[in-house]
Amino acid sequence: MEENKKDLNQNPTHDIKPDKDLEKKEADKNDKPAAKKPKKTAVKEVPFKLQKFREIINGALNQTPPERIEAHKSKGKLTARERLAYLLDEGSFEEFGLLVESRCTDFGIKDKHIKGDGVVTGFGRINGRKVAVFSQDFTLLGGSLGLAHAKKIAYIMDIAKKVGCPVIGILDSGGARIQEGVDSLDGYGEIFRRNVESSGVIPQISIIVGPCAGGAVYSPALTDFVFMVQGISNMFVTGPAVVKASTGEEVDFDTLGGAKTHASKSGVCHFVSNSEQECYRTVKELLSYLPSNSSEKPPVIVSNDSAKRETPLLERLCSIDPKKPYRVHHIIWWLADEHKFLEVHKDFAKNIVVGFIRLNGEVVGVVANNSAYMAGALDIDASDKAARFIRFLNNFNIPILTLVDVPGYWPGVKQEHGGIIRHGAKLLYAYAEATVPKVSLILRKAYGGAYIAMSSKYLGGDINFSLPSAEIAVMGPGGAIEILYSKQLKEAKDEERQAIKDKLTQEYADKFASPYQTASTGSIDEVIEPKLARQKIIEAFSILKNKNVNSFSNKKGNIPL
Ligand code: HXC
Repeated sequence: MEENKKDLNQNPTHDIKPDKDLEKKEADKNDKPAAKKPKKTAVKEVPFKLQKFREIINGALNQTPPERIEAHKSKGKLTARERLAYLLDEGSFEEFGLLVESRCTDFGIKDKHIKGDGVVTGFGRINGRKVAVFSQDFTLLGGSLGLAHAKKIAYIMDIAKKVGCPVIGILDSGGARIQEGVDSLDGYGEIFRRNVESSGVIPQISIIVGPCAGGAVYSPALTDFVFMVQGISNMFVTGPAVVKASTGEEVDFDTLGGAKTHASKSGVCHFVSNSEQECYRTVKELLSYLPSNSSEKPPVIVSNDSAKRETPLLERLCSIDPKKPYRVHHIIWWLADEHKFLEVHKDFAKNIVVGFIRLNGEVVGVVANNSAYMAGALDIDASDKAARFIRFLNNFNIPILTLVDVPGYWPGVKQEHGGIIRHGAKLLYAYAEATVPKVSLILRKAYGGAYIAMSSKYLGGDINFSLPSAEIAVMGPGGAIEILYSKQLKEAKDEERQAIKDKLTQEYADKFASPYQTASTGSIDEVIEPKLARQKIIEAFSILKNKNVNSFSNKKGNIPL
């Protein structure tokens, strides 16, 4: 029985070799040495049913004509199965639905019936951890999505949700299969609904490695992370031709919906790679930070980096001009175990930086204002980016470290009319509803509403640190003096005005442009030695390790979208 099972599990494309051990056992039973067994002269006949089975499976696995594969590869793309081979641990893929076919007979599609219906689906392992996968095959009916194709995807999504493992979709498709009409649209409905049902329950990752057009883009948009590859990925609701016909704008595929566009302008894409291989490596790296589902904690590893390692770089914030911009990545690298930081949404809203690090081996999500870009001010895109990331962290039990250096909200008519009030509120909402451990460190500026938004104590921050370089106030000294003393400054003699202004500014700065007033009210828990920042933050997360807050578990809030 076991032997039979072993045979059936073998890859049908490979010859099944005779079992030598079994032959020897048979020989021993007859008390004859194995060597004396008469040599076989005739090849054993394969039973008809087995032969037919192997033919069917081989046919299904090799149904794309070689010239189509060649054409596909000439675009710099891997095949659907090669993609899975790059992504999954060797030999771990278990395929389901290889023989599924479409029942559609319209528009000549009857003659084009294909086994598997243009998508490879199943389960595999990544670094030993179970994942559900689907990989659309553009070489078969353009990877277009018909009802059978959709049901295959829906099936693995259902199992993934039941067993609690991530779903990874590899998308390369012409979209809804035109010949199947509304059936194919219904197929998308099946997938979208499951995307939403699985949201916050299991991580969902979309890898776009070809076209992704029309309503099809909304499945990736409903997942947690979207990966694209330079030169081969496209996403758009309407393609260049429709855009030209309806608005008169002339635009090429890449400018309209290529990887760079979605990574830097629309924010649809979280990770861009230069090659498919690089893309799969990054997916694996991302998964190393994530739990398999929302009832698990993220994976912990043994860190080779001392929890007591000092962070002298942070001392420099006390000596540089407060207006001098710097990339907050340097601070993150210094704090993180082995200086490793996986940045998410790297090219979008660069005024805020988000991503994953480990501290003493434990996964932490970082949200940090980046003064190197728009002085680190919060705008519409930064609020959206950070809010969505925080909600992901909260769903998957990942503690949040917030690094604050924020001069306020970005001013201007464009921001106001674009809805900075509505979008900025998302950030407040996300921080306030997050029940995972929240530790913050104010590096430099923390002004006004933006100070409150960035995980401040009264918004629900658990442990709030500050460096001596912090300036915490309603607004910066310059602006505050102009408002508080406008009459006095107007009335002052021209030659005296600057001196008065300087004196008032200094007084204001002495009182507010430091962390001490805020520490005296308890809004900051501790002003810390910059070189001890890593140690203090690790200790803070260790104190919060068993934090357990259920206040939001049964509540359905209404985030300002
Ligand atoms: C059926 C399709 C198809 C589709 C492509 N094919 N898209 N078959 N339904 N949606 C087939 C082609 O007929 C062709 O078959 C093969 O796939 C390869 O396509 P090519 O056009 O030769 O490839 P290429 O030149 O690389 O162009 C790729 C493409 C183009 C840009 C994706 O095929 C295209 O524009 N397709 C239509 C895209 C689209 O508008 N889809 C519907 C979107 S609306 P043969 O046999 O000739 O080789 C949508 C609604 C979802 O998806 C709504 C959800 C709510």
